[in-house]
Amino acid sequence: MATVIVGAVRERAPGERRVALVPEAVTLLRRAGIDVLVETGAGSGAWFTDAEYAEAGATVVVLGELLAAADVVLCVGPPDADAVRLLHPGQTLVGLLEPLRHPELVAGLTDRGVHAVSLDLLPRTLSRAQSMDALTSQASVAGYKAALLAADAYDRFFPMLTTAAGTMRPAQVMVLGAGVAGLQAIATARRLGAVVTAYDVRPASRGEVESLGARFLDIRSPHQAESGAGQGGYARELTEDEQRAQREALDAHIARSDVVITTAQVPGRKPPLLVTGTALAGMKPGSVVVDLAASELGGNVEGSEPDKTDVRAGGVTVIGAGRLPSAMATAASTAYARNLVALLRHLVRDGELVLDPTDEITGALMGDGTS
Ligand code: NAI
Repeated sequence: MATVIVGAVRERAPGERRVALVPEAVTLLRRAGIDVLVETGAGSGAWFTDAEYAEAGATVVVLGELLAAADVVLCVGPPDADAVRLLHPGQTLVGLLEPLRHPELVAGLTDRGVHAVSLDLLPRTLSRAQSMDALTSQASVAGYKAALLAADAYDRFFPMLTTAAGTMRPAQVMVLGAGVAGLQAIATARRLGAVVTAYDVRPASRGEVESLGARFLDIRSPHQAESGAGQGGYARELTEDEQRAQREALDAHIARSDVVITTAQVPGRKPPLLVTGTALAGMKPGSVVVDLAASELGGNVEGSEPDKTDVRAGGVTVIGAGRLPSAMATAASTAYARNLVALLRHLVRDGELVLDPTDEITGALMGDGTS
């Protein structure tokens, strides 16, 4: 019987420590009749050794050998142009390829006859695709880490503490954007004992916020008579008027918070600006803001930059979060690899890789024109 060969490459993006497969995933793939190649040193950033991969049943090889033999190349982030040139026609590349941000990558793959399977195109609300949802697994890690970064940078306690020296009041934490990362940040800040308030434009998030013991902030103004919910469970981009009204309404709540964690995103668009310089100036010295949406496109917080922490003039520390899932590479890689195992079990049938564009999951992951 034919066998599909998959190969996990070492990530080459600066600062990226994650890896697409971990040893436990190799065992599961071998059990499913899939042969596994792993590039030498691929797991070292996430503390997995070549010996562990070999023990789990993978063949550890150099990149050239992997690319020559693999039917399916597995990665975490999008590969660079040099790596794309090494792929050959008929091969399939699976990863978080961010086709909306890198349309030239998808075009390059199509030109080479390589099939692109972008995990970030997975339909989020389809229940049978949940085990493959890498955006969710990675956002959960990011949300957890964001709350820890905030707690670490904040020079007071998160919980209320009653000690012989008196009572310390709990931190007031505000989470803006209550999607996957936001909900995990809320849960983590709550576990640390903070009093948490959260806000999202999707009305459906209210119940989820409240179920975690946080208060939902309702600031809908006359400008935002319509729901902020868009397609596929995502938010829509608010109009200019709506955004202005939202920022004005948020300012007073931000000023009362000790810690603000922002996670708001709209797929394929610039992240909405939620915390302006004016809002930051209204916060108390010693307050901390973590912007999980910070990117080259800008973030939710005015002036924030990825991987950069700065203390603003008013004594507010602004942390532009960079690659938070990579900062917890072992947990993030383990969850990502489980997503890939679920996807490969879906794509490999009787020893053949089946890329059926009419299949609801496969068709979505392959996007337009990449098959
Ligand atoms: P995301 O990363 O695209 O955005 C994060 C959050 O920011 C979202 O909740 C969004 O509504 C919010 N947001 C956008 N613009 C905003 C603004 N101007 N102000 C305040 N908040 C704003 O979203 P994520 O976390 O990837 O989740 C996307 C959707 O998929 C959510 O509805 C989530 O519940 C849903 N989902 C469903 C799953 C399931 O049904 N099993 C699994 C995973 C996600």
